[in-house]
Amino acid sequence: MSTNTESWGSRVGLVLAMAGNAVGLGNFLRFPVQAIQNGGGSFIIPYLVCFLLMGLPLLFVEWSMGRFGGKYGHHSTPFILDTMSKQSFWKYIGVFGLFTNLAVAAYYCYLESWTIGYIWHSIAGTFQSMDQAGVADFFNNYTTISTTTTGIPFEAIIFWLLCLVLNTYILSQGLSGGIEKVAKIGMPLLILFGVVLAIKAITLKSGSQGAILDGTEGLNYLWTPDFKSIWTPSVWLAAAGQIFFTLSVGMGTIQCYSSYLRAKDDIALNAMSAGWMNEFVEVVLGGAVVIPITVGYFGIDGMKELVNQAGGLGLGFRTLPYLFQQWGDVLSVIAGVFWFGLLFFAGITSSLAMGTPIVGFLQDEFSWSRKSASWTFGAAVFLLGLPTVIFFQQGVFDEYDYWVGTVSLVIFALFEIILFAWIFGMEKGWREITLGADIKVPIVFKFIIKYITPLLILFVFIGSLPGIWAQITGDYPWQVHFSRALLLGVWIAIALLVAYAYRKRQKEGRFTS
Ligand code: PHE
Repeated sequence: MSTNTESWGSRVGLVLAMAGNAVGLGNFLRFPVQAIQNGGGSFIIPYLVCFLLMGLPLLFVEWSMGRFGGKYGHHSTPFILDTMSKQSFWKYIGVFGLFTNLAVAAYYCYLESWTIGYIWHSIAGTFQSMDQAGVADFFNNYTTISTTTTGIPFEAIIFWLLCLVLNTYILSQGLSGGIEKVAKIGMPLLILFGVVLAIKAITLKSGSQGAILDGTEGLNYLWTPDFKSIWTPSVWLAAAGQIFFTLSVGMGTIQCYSSYLRAKDDIALNAMSAGWMNEFVEVVLGGAVVIPITVGYFGIDGMKELVNQAGGLGLGFRTLPYLFQQWGDVLSVIAGVFWFGLLFFAGITSSLAMGTPIVGFLQDEFSWSRKSASWTFGAAVFLLGLPTVIFFQQGVFDEYDYWVGTVSLVIFALFEIILFAWIFGMEKGWREITLGADIKVPIVFKFIIKYITPLLILFVFIGSLPGIWAQITGDYPWQVHFSRALLLGVWIAIALLVAYAYRKRQKEGRFTS
């Protein structure tokens, strides 16, 4: 049997860890950019609809799947899914729930490590003498193989390794000894930093500190509903994609966290609390920092241009550190530390979540100790992350994000909701969701989970097929092709490991459910 009998230390710790899992770089870097690229006010409506009709239902489903599988001693999706059906192929669908976590962690930890580097440089005052082009160049240099000390293989690699070791060490300390502790410190600090920055951003006045517009202009841009593109499929796809990414649904992470619950622990209220906390941080804090500040200095068109030029990470790393300098020597250091500190806490509570399913799998199936499993995960993230680091400028980082941070999630979510609502069955499913619930879950969710959510996900998936085809057939450098082959290889390797674990279970007479 599994040597893994851990559980969460406290309810507050669990909710903060789950919220920390969801609240990540996606809330502060991805959300504003998605909103800008999809028309601001016209993004918000589909976004909120997707939250209610896909996000919340998937949270209920994943939390209850996890607690259900946990009863049988399973802590990762291959065997959690296996317990829910008699057909044996479901455990291979569950491979996604290990693959996605490992492969997202591979590029996510690299991104997370930049925040450490940028905290350091904010304190050291590196950006103080730079103009905007200088700050942008600094970023380019940081992510390029070069002979200067800030690039690869020097500083960028050192911070990356530091970040990996830190993650692995905390992971090896367990749920209550490691992850819960970090969430309890990190989440309140993140909210504090976010609130301070948001107040500063919103109260930005045109004409003072070099701003050309009030901070509220950016808020208006985001919050004035715009029905113009309400029927544009690409806006809906982007909104759905953001909901998946930000809530960490379709990844197998939530199932893993909730598999450490006890059989009658509440999941309904917990899922709601963590989900709404994520949305608060995303739309209130995530929307009130980057956009108002950038609009304040560049106007709406200027901000759009910056996003188009420099892509998703452009604003957070290439522009904000420059804009902070307009606030004077002291405030710029505080703003830099708060901004990158916030990103760091957002990132680490998410990357720790990505490690847990893999650690759980190795413990369950091969009776490894948490320490060995954690360090194995760290080594795997290092190896799989290496191409995203070395070939960042060739687009390998973005390629990972596309396949594992976007496509995989939708595929896995589609399968799991079909399994839950139609094969496991909605009656049983509903009993699982409401068992031990501390709130009354509105009955309408039963209908939504059975019909609306699967159809919406199907729509999103079909809608994204042309884009997937374009991605496959596009013209890319060899590094990108190599990274695709690598990811495919990793998926197959995990599937083989699952097949092996299944055989082992059969031989040892350990039933899977
Ligand atoms: N939800 C996290 C974010 O918004 C990302 C994440 C992905 C977390 C996968 C856990 C697992 O950044």
